[in-house]
Formats: sequence, C-alpha cells, structure tokens
Amino acid sequence: MKSVHITNGGGLEHLQIVESANPTPKDNEILVGWHATSLNYHDYLVAIGGIPVMNNRIPMSDGAGEVLAIGKDVLDWKIGDKVMSMFFPGWIDGPPKLEKIAGVSGETIDGYMTTHSCVDQNSVTRIPKGFSYAEAATLPCAALTAWNGLMYTGKLKAGDSVLIEGTGGMSIYGLQIAKAAGAKVFATTSSEIKKERLLSLGCEAVVNYKENERWGKEIYKLSDGGVDHVLDVGGGSTMNQSIEASKIGGHITSIGILSNGRKGAITFPKLFFKFLHLRGIAVGNRDMQNEMIEAIEINQLKPIIDKSFGFEELADAFKYQESGQHFGKIVLEW
Ligand SMILES: NC(=O)c1ccc[n+]([C@@H]2O[C@H](COP(=O)([O-])OP(=O)(O)OC[C@H]3O[C@@H](n4cnc5c(N)ncnc54)[C@H](OP(=O)(O)O)[C@@H]3O)[C@@H](O)[C@H]2O)c1
Repeated sequence: MKSVHITNGGGLEHLQIVESANPTPKDNEILVGWHATSLNYHDYLVAIGGIPVMNNRIPMSDGAGEVLAIGKDVLDWKIGDKVMSMFFPGWIDGPPKLEKIAGVSGETIDGYMTTHSCVDQNSVTRIPKGFSYAEAATLPCAALTAWNGLMYTGKLKAGDSVLIEGTGGMSIYGLQIAKAAGAKVFATTSSEIKKERLLSLGCEAVVNYKENERWGKEIYKLSDGGVDHVLDVGGGSTMNQSIEASKIGGHITSIGILSNGRKGAITFPKLFFKFLHLRGIAVGNRDMQNEMIEAIEINQLKPIIDKSFGFEELADAFKYQESGQHFGKIVLEW
C-alpha cells in the first residue's frame, strides 16, 4: 500500500509518499481500498502545519473506496461494498460529546490519503447510488457541514432564504442543498466569472465581497429585509456582515475562519436587536450523513467538481486550492 505522510511539522514540501505492507482487519474492522479523497480547507491547514499533527500523520478527512476484507465480527458490510469515510468516526448519533469528536480524520487520527487502511466497521457509511468514488469523496466534510447547518440545526423550510459566502466546497453544497429544499439562495464571491456561474445555478442575487465591503447591507436590501439563514465561512472577517445580512430572528451558522477570521469583534447590539440565533457547528454525525445520502438520492443531487488530481499530486492540488480559482470541490482519484 501507499500513503502520504505529513513530516517535519508540515508544509507542502514535506508531504512524503511512503510504501508499506497492507494491514489485516481486526475482528470489528474492515479493510478498505480507498480510491478518492477531496480537499477541504481543514485538510489544507493540516498539510501546511497550521493545525499541528503528529509526525507521519496521514492527511485528508474524506475518503471513498471499496471493502476488500472484513473482520469476523463485522455484520453490516461485505466484500465489494462501496463506502465513504466520516469526519468524526466516533460520532455515530445524538448530540456532540467530547469523547465522540476527539477523533478527527486526517488530524488526530490517520485520514484517507492512502490506498488501503483498516477502519472500525461503524466509521463509514454507504455512498449514494450511482456516485463514483471521486463524487462520494466530496461528501463527508463539505456536504455534511452544509446539511447540518441548514437542515439539522437550521431547520430550513421551503420558501426560506439562505446566504452562502464564497464558492468553496462547503458553500456550493450549501447552495445545492438549499435549492433542493425549496429555498431562495443569495451568495457572495470575489470573482465576476464565479458570480455568473452562481446566477446560472439559480442564485437570486450575488454580491462581490471584495468590491463591496458592506456586502451584508446589500444582501439585506436584495433579500427584502434579510435572509433566514447564513452559512458564515469567515468568522472574524465576515460575522458582522453576516449579521447585517440576516433578517430578524434569523439563524447564522458559524462554520469557518477564512481570510484570517480566527478572531474578531462582534457588534453585539445588532445580534440581540435582531433576535438572531448564532450557532457553531463542526461537520456532523453518522445519522446525519445517512439522512443526507437519502436526500441526495431523492433529489438526484450531483457534486460540482472543479478539478481532479492524481495520488502523486497532493501538493499541486493544495496549491490550486490556495490560488482560490476553484468553484466547488477539488478531488484526487486513483
Ligand atoms: N465547521 C466545520 O465543520 C467546517 C466544515 C467545512 C468547512 N469549514 C470551514 O469553512 C470554510 C470554507 O471551507 P471549504 O473547505 O469550503 O474551503 P475552500 O473550498 O478552500 O473554499 C475557499 C473559498 O472561500 C471563499 N472565501 C475566502 N475568503 C472569503 C471571505 N472573506 N468571504 C467569503 N468567501 C471567502 C473563496 O470563494 P470566492 O473565490 O468565490 O471568493 C474561496 O475560493 C473554511 O474556513 C473551513 O475551515 C468548517
């Protein structure tokens, strides 16, 4: 088997391909032959050393592949089944608890930038019918986060309005899930070309956040009094504008920290005089992932894949992500 390891504290120049013998599954494990992964901003932070990990950690939280062997206590899977990973392999159902979210794929435990690995039988789900491995590998982090933020914690209803910010993997899934649920979608982007693409995918209106620093006010006007839901990806760099864009009683899901948004000051009177719900989330559990798979099949939703790379090209794929040219997901398949 082949895996990519993070060495020397991280950095794209320190991603090393290592060959070793195939592992054998324990009683409760399955051996998976992984065939694809996809890039998330979290994976990028891990790879460049922005999130410290132990030496030789295998990166990437997303994986899709085929079951090659099963341990003697495995009941749910058989050889040949197609499976995909979970961001939190230990969070099966119910609310998050520290012990359930301690294991993070590609960070605190090994991820899926590998041709083979043995994983607990409960730490994968099936992939949607008709999906390729590359398509399935776009789902466990990006799509599940958007699903949790909009459908599970946000309780989105048909007719609601949603703001997605930027055109990265999670946000484009936010657009697709919101449209499938019958919501009106507004968006921001830094690119005029991407703006046209967002409109062609059914967005009501798009504001360029680089050209208009007060984009939240503009979205408020365009949506006739604010949106019901915001998927906030910038934290300190976007939250005040997300609050501006919201309608009274709206729901903001705090998801990311793009554009150096790890910290920032919130204009609190706007938050409470608008009676807003502000909710932080991290991806989701296996029950949510299985529900999302059903919804993807019923709505015949397909991922928007911008570009595909090979196993040996992880650093190039991250450089492409860094350049911000992508719209939707970047994948690696082998
Ligand atoms: N909490 C969670 O569970 C969770 C799960 C998934 C992702 N996230 C977070 O969500 C964020 C996005 O992740 P991703 O994997 O989707 O990233 P990604 O695919 O790398 O997307 C990056 C895109 O974000 C947009 N962007 C950058 N700065 C922005 C800003 N200030 N305002 C609006 N858009 C901005 C850009 O879009 P344009 O080119 O259109 O400008 C850029 O192309 C990251 O912070 C990530 O850590 C969190």
